[in-house]
Amino acid sequence: MKNKKIETQIIHGNKQYPFTGPVVYPIYQTSNFRFKNSSIASRYSKGDESVFVYSRIHNPTVNQLEQKFTELYDNKATLFCSGMAAISTTILALCKSDEEILTIPNLYGGTYHYFNEVLPKFKIDIKTFEPNSLEDLLYLITPKTRIVYFETPTNPTINLVDIQKLVKIVKKIEKEYNKKIYTILDNTFATILNQNPFKYGVDIVIESTTKYLGGHSDLIGGLVVSSNNTAQKIKNLRKYTGSIMEPFTAFLLDRSLKTFLFRVKQQNQNAIELAKALEKHRNIIRVLYPGLKSHPNHELAKKQMRGFGGMLTIEVVGGLKNAIKFCNNLKLAVNAMSLGGVETSVSIPVLSSHIGLTKSELTRQGVTEGMVRISTGIENIVDLIQDFYQSLNKLK
Ligand SMILES: Cc1ncc(COP(=O)(O)O)c(C=O)c1O
Repeated sequence: MKNKKIETQIIHGNKQYPFTGPVVYPIYQTSNFRFKNSSIASRYSKGDESVFVYSRIHNPTVNQLEQKFTELYDNKATLFCSGMAAISTTILALCKSDEEILTIPNLYGGTYHYFNEVLPKFKIDIKTFEPNSLEDLLYLITPKTRIVYFETPTNPTINLVDIQKLVKIVKKIEKEYNKKIYTILDNTFATILNQNPFKYGVDIVIESTTKYLGGHSDLIGGLVVSSNNTAQKIKNLRKYTGSIMEPFTAFLLDRSLKTFLFRVKQQNQNAIELAKALEKHRNIIRVLYPGLKSHPNHELAKKQMRGFGGMLTIEVVGGLKNAIKFCNNLKLAVNAMSLGGVETSVSIPVLSSHIGLTKSELTRQGVTEGMVRISTGIENIVDLIQDFYQSLNKLK
């Protein structure tokens, strides 16, 4: 079109370039997609996913990243605007009133509140099982059970759940009842690099991409990976919960993914070295890290984890007062709630992820006031140990 007016030009420019193969996938920052002609508009509703319609339903930038994750996990990936959006949408897509979910007591705080305060309003019951006593599932699972939901390693006690054993028990009962019982694992702490739940037959893997996958503390997102069939159900609901990932977030996450392997390797390495160094300090009561021989689940960790991860928890002498003092005196590690970033961070569970829980809830979850959760970054380990030691030395 020649001699366009300025109003038209500022929208369309002088020339519209066809894509000639950018090195980086572009951000399709658009809500709406134009159709070549009206007959194409109906193709999407007939199942042709190559026709884009509206970015609350799907978007090319998000789509291409979903394809990447699908290849990475060898199962169908669906992206969300947060980890909690991924969790809440998945549960609602698969579970209905008068059904129940079985789960572990020490869940991530957001999930814990969603399970205990929101789902009961929809008559979905929550029951718990002890990770160290999986045989209990044999009598806890009932014909009403639709989902067995768990995390491993757990937050903040870094306890492990035997994935293979759990799946085996659930599949056995599933057969007896002749109904689908979904096993769902929140793999955020370990990530697919350190632990592949699909190897043990888990149905659905969820990750908050805000953590290790994003890795730079600058985005919020969630990922669900499942069979094609299940993914279709989850995607259908995502349309109506409006919880798809933003195109710009998908761009950032795609960029993060390129260094994911290197970051996680370094975080793992720093975690084991820091854990070993901290175990020797006089002001530490215990260090909880699956890579340590002293960890009660060390043998299980060696069996089911490919790397021991970047999450560890310490308990300092002197309870909460000293936990606060220790965090305040750190010079490198940042005192922040989230985890999985390139910077080492610390948080006190009773003041952050587990705030508001009653004394008995904390005791049941094994959380004490002197605990400090650590997420190792990719800094030089000598600097990190020096920082932790100078702060620990100040405790009485
Ligand atoms: C284990 C775990 N799962 C899920 C979430 C929720 O993720 P998001 O904050 O991205 O909604 C978090 C957040 O801290 C988490 O630690």
